[in-house]
Amino acid sequence: MIGVIGAGTMGADIAALFANAGFKVVLVDRSEEALKKAREKHEEECLNELGEAGLKKSDELVSSIHYTTELKSVRDCDFIVEAITEKLQPKIELFREIEKFNDRAVFATNTSSFMPSEIAEKLSNPGRLTLFHFSNPPILMPLVEVGGSRVSEEALEKGVSMAKIIGKEPVVLKKECRGHVLNRMLGAAGVAVGYCLLYHRPEEVDAAMKNLGLKYGFFELLDMIGLDVAKDVLESFREYYGDRFRGIRSMDFFMEKMVEWGKLGKKSGEGFYKWEGSIAKIPAASPADVRPLVAAIINEALRIVEDGIADEKTVNRVYMLATNAPYGIMDAAEMLGYPNILDALKEALEVTKLEIFRPCELLRSKI
Ligand code: NAI
Repeated sequence: MIGVIGAGTMGADIAALFANAGFKVVLVDRSEEALKKAREKHEEECLNELGEAGLKKSDELVSSIHYTTELKSVRDCDFIVEAITEKLQPKIELFREIEKFNDRAVFATNTSSFMPSEIAEKLSNPGRLTLFHFSNPPILMPLVEVGGSRVSEEALEKGVSMAKIIGKEPVVLKKECRGHVLNRMLGAAGVAVGYCLLYHRPEEVDAAMKNLGLKYGFFELLDMIGLDVAKDVLESFREYYGDRFRGIRSMDFFMEKMVEWGKLGKKSGEGFYKWEGSIAKIPAASPADVRPLVAAIINEALRIVEDGIADEKTVNRVYMLATNAPYGIMDAAEMLGYPNILDALKEALEVTKLEIFRPCELLRSKI
């Protein structure tokens, strides 16, 4: 039996993936409203997405899922995925609570930004917790990042095999870091995109990203992620990485205001775009020049390699699995050419003074 805690954007879909694979699932949320919404999503949207992803094994999900606000219901589960709000202390408290009545389950965290060891080291058995990080939308995108500096071999293997059983491609990271591989690249994009917005509208940036073969535009994806979640992730990055993830002030302020006004994206019906169910109403637009944005993502990808988190091949693969693009970020670098990337970074750094554009050593060494 599988436990999923948090029935929001991610948890609802993760529960659907396990139910579809034939497991009995206990889906826990402290909010009745979130459970009701998840159930509605399971009745139609998730089934459609499972079909689209080529994963559909069942015409019905809800009879395999127990929807509850009672955390103790996961007492007999042997794999428990946490997908609650992106705050460290509540995640620690949650697993510490579960430890009291379940000593057999492997714990899995879908945290976007924290290192799994930051949670694991507060548990009585740190080895039982693995990273289990999906990309959004979790049913459609094949990626699950797995790993952690404290995880036992057994828990890591369980994470890998569970990801495969639900139809995903697990990527084991060599070393942990805040944001893992995917969200460091996404976080870099989140900061760098402020520069593009000096000259272009969101729909122009998104038109360019789609022209490059990505399934979703950047702002469309931000709306799907949820601006509240994106804000929490960037705050976690700033606490850890400092100035590198600080953006253009007006953009940071704008994001804060959007969250304050409840414009959270898809889940609230409006973010950068208005949403009708699962479809964003994106105005037609001509594509922006997104070279500085792509250059910043490549630069961060190479920093990830420099930091020993994953090799270039893995970083490349993570990008492909998370974006559905026919090429990875290292392939994009080859296509653009490193001298052009360096020029784009230097120009953006000069205009914005944003650290995200400062070329890393590995990039410089490629010229
Ligand atoms: P969300 O805000 O849509 O849902 C979180 C849910 O957790 C809410 O329904 C809330 O009521 C519930 N919750 C909060 N604390 C709880 C507790 N102590 N016990 C039970 N339920 C609790 O958030 P979302 O987007 O689903 O994110 C969940 C986690 O997944 C976060 O750690 C996030 O960083 C991560 N993640 C999010 C992605 C995204 O694109 N939104 C992508 C990958 C990971």
